[in-house]
Amino acid sequence: MRAGAHELRLQLAAHPLAYPVVRLLGRLGPVVRVPGLGIVVNEASAAREVLTDTGTFRSGGGTEADLWTPVFGSSMLVNMDGPEHRAMRRKLAEFFTPAYVRRLIDAACTEPLARTAETLRRGRPVDVVRTTKIVAGAVTSALVGFTVTGSTAEREAAYLRMTGQATAIIGLVKLGRLSLSAPQITKARAIVAEIGVTTSLAWEKGDENTAVGRMRGFGLTEAEARGLASAFLIAGTETITSLLPRMVAVLHDHGELAGVAAAHRRGDTRPVEAAIDESARLITPAPIILRNAVRPGRIGRVEVRAGDRVVLSALNCARAPGRFDLARAHPPELRRLWFGAGPHFCLGYPLATAEIHAILGTLFDSAPLRITARRAERGVLFPAYRRLEVSRA
Ligand code: HEM
Repeated sequence: MRAGAHELRLQLAAHPLAYPVVRLLGRLGPVVRVPGLGIVVNEASAAREVLTDTGTFRSGGGTEADLWTPVFGSSMLVNMDGPEHRAMRRKLAEFFTPAYVRRLIDAACTEPLARTAETLRRGRPVDVVRTTKIVAGAVTSALVGFTVTGSTAEREAAYLRMTGQATAIIGLVKLGRLSLSAPQITKARAIVAEIGVTTSLAWEKGDENTAVGRMRGFGLTEAEARGLASAFLIAGTETITSLLPRMVAVLHDHGELAGVAAAHRRGDTRPVEAAIDESARLITPAPIILRNAVRPGRIGRVEVRAGDRVVLSALNCARAPGRFDLARAHPPELRRLWFGAGPHFCLGYPLATAEIHAILGTLFDSAPLRITARRAERGVLFPAYRRLEVSRA
């Protein structure tokens, strides 16, 4: 099977109609006005221009970010703009320091990844999707203020439940429908009610060794801490559970897994960084970023009117340079566009990167690996594997 065929299957399983349409729109030009949809941006420098011009293009006011406001309130960063957004980001500038990220990752990853390594060492298969969900669930539990105790099996179940809550909420969203109905809002609130209470309790305690205590220490109000915790749940679980297993599969399918693993084992970081960047480019887990124009302007040669919706096809932008190629240098305008750009650039980027390094590092240590089973998830917002089983070759 062609190396890219598995990725295509994942995309089509997630978005059987939207994926071909979006890719087709990508052929119409760098920036195109599509009646009924908005202005579609398919080129990285134009996308970067939009994301950094916050005077003209806003996150709030009918974009996907606003969708969450009735459920989580207005302090989620993604649904904020202007001075309020700037002020909250400024307070959080030192939130994910390298030392804090290391602490979070050590606490979340050490045990599940030791078990993953042991399973592989014994010649048994590991489901990379499940491992990633456990790690992401452990990280998110820490970030929203959940203290998880009990046996290994009980803790794993709690972490999987946390990831499952994010999946259930994000599952309410469909491409092309940018608001939640009243019953959906009720359902979403019910799913996250417990998390909000937990975050509030942690905020009251204010223990600066905990994530929510840190938020309070950095000057966030209780409402802001609850908003941020929910942003972490929404933004930080499905993205990584989409990306990480697909990275493993992409490297495997292009015949690069063994070489990159060997580089990792001899401590050569450059090929590993290149593998992470190039596979993330190809995958671009959040394929679309939306903005609204609040005043007239221009994107490339296309005139923008106040009220226009701008659909940034991060996927088309990222795919434009061509096929997967580990030797490819990413031009400046493309640089990690899959994590956004400008003032809304992914706050969790250092954490996501550390999660990727921790999980890939464990798998690379157990190489050579081969994929022994895989299955695509259907009808999801972020294309993903439902199962990706690897074993020692
Ligand atoms: C593979 C993993 C990830 C990807 C691809 C990703 C991608 C993105 C993108 C594209 C944005 C910008 C959205 C926009 O401009 O509208 C964003 C924002 C954000 N991300 Fe991530 N993200 C990832 C992981 C994480 C993690 C692990 C966390 C935290 C636990 C996180 C927290 C956030 C937050 C809070 C924002 C909002 C920032 C703001 O609006 O100021 N993300 N992410």
